[in-house]
Amino acid sequence: MCGIVGAIAQRPVTEILLEGLRRLEYRGYDSAGLAVISADNLLMRERALGKVAELEKKLENSSLAGTLGIAHTRWATHGEPAERNAHPHVSANRIAVVHNGIIENYEELRESLQAEGYVFESDTDTEVIVHLIEKAESQGIELLEAVMSVRKKLRGAYALGVISNDEPDSLIVARHGSPLVIGLGLGENFIGSDIQAMLPVTSRFIYLENGDTAQLSRHEINIYDENGDAVKREIQQSTASMCASDLGEYRHYMHKEIFEQPQAIQATLDSRLTGESFINCIVGETSEGVAAKDILAQVEEIQIIACGTSYHAGLIARYWIESLTEVPCNVEVASEYRYRRQPPKKNMLVITLSQSGETADTLAALDKVKQDGCLATLTICNVPESSLTRESDFSLMTIAGPEIGVASTKAFTTQLVALQLLLGQLLQAKQADDKLIIELISGLKQLPVIVEQVLEHDKAIEKMAEDFIEKNNALFLGRGEQYPVAMEGALKLKEISYIHAEAYPAGELKHGPLALVDSEMPIITVAPNTSLLEKLKSNLEEVRSRGGMLYVFADKAAEIKQQDNIYVIEMPAVPESIAAIVYSVPLQLLSYYTAVFKGTDVDKPRNLAKSVTVE
Ligand code: M6R
Repeated sequence: MCGIVGAIAQRPVTEILLEGLRRLEYRGYDSAGLAVISADNLLMRERALGKVAELEKKLENSSLAGTLGIAHTRWATHGEPAERNAHPHVSANRIAVVHNGIIENYEELRESLQAEGYVFESDTDTEVIVHLIEKAESQGIELLEAVMSVRKKLRGAYALGVISNDEPDSLIVARHGSPLVIGLGLGENFIGSDIQAMLPVTSRFIYLENGDTAQLSRHEINIYDENGDAVKREIQQSTASMCASDLGEYRHYMHKEIFEQPQAIQATLDSRLTGESFINCIVGETSEGVAAKDILAQVEEIQIIACGTSYHAGLIARYWIESLTEVPCNVEVASEYRYRRQPPKKNMLVITLSQSGETADTLAALDKVKQDGCLATLTICNVPESSLTRESDFSLMTIAGPEIGVASTKAFTTQLVALQLLLGQLLQAKQADDKLIIELISGLKQLPVIVEQVLEHDKAIEKMAEDFIEKNNALFLGRGEQYPVAMEGALKLKEISYIHAEAYPAGELKHGPLALVDSEMPIITVAPNTSLLEKLKSNLEEVRSRGGMLYVFADKAAEIKQQDNIYVIEMPAVPESIAAIVYSVPLQLLSYYTAVFKGTDVDKPRNLAKSVTVE
C-alpha cells in the first residue's frame, strides 16, 4: 500500500508534493512525510503521524524548501503508525528513500547492516533500502548505479523514489511489483504511484514496467530494464480529469457516492444496449488476435477472482451466470487463488473484478493465471489506465467516476451492472433464447429509476440506524444471490462503524449461528419478491421466536408487517434480475448512518486504505 510522489523541477516542489499526497491518501493515511534537497544542497525532511493535513500543518512552520523532492503517505505494514516509521527514510543525513511494497528479506539485510554499524531508527522494512544505497554510494559509485546494485539484494515488491544531496539533479526510481508512473513536464518531471497524483501538473505519462530503473533530471528521463539495458517506454497522453473531489452538499464522500449510483449505473449502461440486444462493450483482443465475441462463444468455464467488495460482486454474478447459461462459474478471493495449484484449463475465461485495478493480490492472481494458461483474461475495472486493465486481454469498464470513500458503493453496483452486460453478451454469443436477453435488458433499463426510489428512503434508514449505535454485533441474512448481498452489507457495517458483523445464508442459521440470537442481536435481512422469499420468511420466524430483533428491507409482496420485534422498510417492486443490485443500496445507507452516529471517520476508516497495493 502507501502512496509515493516525487518531483524534480525549476520551481519549489513542496506544494506539488503535498497535492500529490492528498490525491494518494486513498492508498494509506496513517502517517506522511516529505524530503527535499535544499538550494544549499542539504537534505531536509518533515514527517507527521496521521493524515496529510498533519504534515501540512508542520510544514507551515518549517523552512523546508527545494526543487527536488520525494513524499509518501503510509499504510503501515512493518512497524506501527508512528512518526519514526513514516517515510522518507534517511541514511547518513544525505540519502532519502520512499517505498511502496514489502521487502521480504529485510530481517537478514537489517542484521548484516547492523553488524556493519548502521543504526536503525524505525521498525520498517524500508530502512534497509536506504542504508544499502548509502553503503553502495559511499563506495564511490553514482546514485543510479547504487540503486541498481541494491535491487539485486532485495526480495519482495517495491516502488522506490530516491534522492541524494550528492546528486541534486537526479531523481532515481525503481519498480518491481508495486506500481510507479513517471509524469513528463516541460523542464520538470514527476513520479507517482498513479497518475491522479500528477494530474495537476501533467497529462503525459510513462508507465514503468517491472524491473525498470529510471533516472529523471529536469530535462531528461533515462530508463533501464532489469538487465540494465537502456530502453524506451511509450509516452501516453491521459484524458483523465482532475475534478471529482467536490463534496457539494454532502458531509461525506460515501454518502455522495451512494447518491451518485443512479447516474453511475446509467453511465455504465449508456450506448451498451438497445431495446433487444447488448452492444459489444468489451475492449481488446487476445495475443492471437481473437475478439471478445469469439472468446465468449468458445468459453466452457468462468473463473472470477477479486477481493473484498469486488469479490462479493463476483459471488452475485455466479448466481446469474449459472442460472441463465450452461457455463459453470467459480469465484475465489485473489489472496487464496494466487497460491492454489490448479490444472490449466484451456477453455476457461478468467475475470478479475476491481474498482482500482491496482489490488496487489488480484494482480498476482492474474499473473498466475497467465502463467498457468487459460482461454483469455478479462477485467471489469473502474480505472482505464490501471495495471489490471493494461495486463488483461480484455477490459470492460465501469463508468462510476472516481470513488473516494474507502467503503466501496457505486463501484460495487456498477460492477454488478457490468457483469450483467457481460452476461448479456455471453448469452448472445451462446445464441440463447431472445426472451432471456430482452428480460435482462428490461431490468437494466429500469435500474437507475428504481435506485432513485430506494434513495428516497434515506431519512427512514437514518432513523433505523439509531438502533445500532449501542450494538456490538450484527447478523446479516440472505438467500440465493441475496446471500452475497448480505455479505456485502456486513462488510460495509464492520468497515466503517467497527461493529462486528457476519453474514449467513438464512437457511444455515439453524446449523449454529442461531445460538447467537437474543434480544441484543440485530438481524438484518433483505427480502425481495423472488422464488426464495417463502423459504426466507420461515427462517425469519425461527429468529423471531427466539427473541431476535429483525430489520427487514422487504418487497410489499412479501407481506412482512412492522411489529414489535420487526422493523420493516418497504422497497419498490423490482424484477428479479436486478434485485441484488437494488437491495445492496439500503444496506449501504444503514452502514453509513450507523457510522455517522458512532462518529467514526466514515471516508477514511481506521486501519484501511482505498487501494490495497501490498500483499
Ligand atoms: O480496488 P478493488 O476493487 O480491487 O479493491 C478490493 C477491496 O480492497 C475493496 O473492495 C475493499 O473491500 C473495500 N474497501 C470495501 O468497501
